[in-house]
Amino acid sequence: MDKIRLFDKTFKPFLSYEEIAEAIDNVAEKINADFEGKGEVPILLCVLNGSVMFCGELMKRMRFDAELKSIKLSSYSGTQSTGKVREMMGLTGSIEGRTVIVIEDIVDTGNTIVQLKKSLEDKGAKCVKICTMLLKPEVYDKDVRLDYVAKEIPNAFIVGFGLDYDELGRNYKDIYVIDNE
Ligand code: IMP
Repeated sequence: MDKIRLFDKTFKPFLSYEEIAEAIDNVAEKINADFEGKGEVPILLCVLNGSVMFCGELMKRMRFDAELKSIKLSSYSGTQSTGKVREMMGLTGSIEGRTVIVIEDIVDTGNTIVQLKKSLEDKGAKCVKICTMLLKPEVYDKDVRLDYVAKEIPNAFIVGFGLDYDELGRNYKDIYVIDNE
């Protein structure tokens, strides 16, 4: 894997597709253990845009019926969290009385999931579970329980596998970390 350049920044290889796929295999098994054969049909809530690849990979591994919904949120500008979560595209249809599994690409400060979980509960969700591909545990300081975490990573800015730097880099199948050298 070579380094990549996006706008003014260089990124070096960090996680290969194989490593990501193995982490997704493991987290999918945990979700299957909780939902397979239980008869409940949860709603998978794909948080666009970053979660699009992770959500697709996860769904291929799920052995139970689920509905798919999407919303679009934005909190990052460049390589920094702004602390403000903006809803760019809202939820359609009712989630009243339903179990919702939020599918996130990455939990960093946790501002996004705290706000999202509250808004889903306000809309009548019976139960909100959080599933994230990546977690930066050094940064996350909120109380919301992260039910399913595929992989923990250090506090560094990454791109690839759906994650972007100012909208570029989402298409890479491997994950790259910012190269500060
Ligand atoms: P939080 O609200 O600080 O937890 O940030 C969550 C959102 O910020 C994620 O869904 C991503 O869209 C974005 N984000 C956080 N860390 C990174 C990163 O390292 N690279 C790209 N986007 C990130």
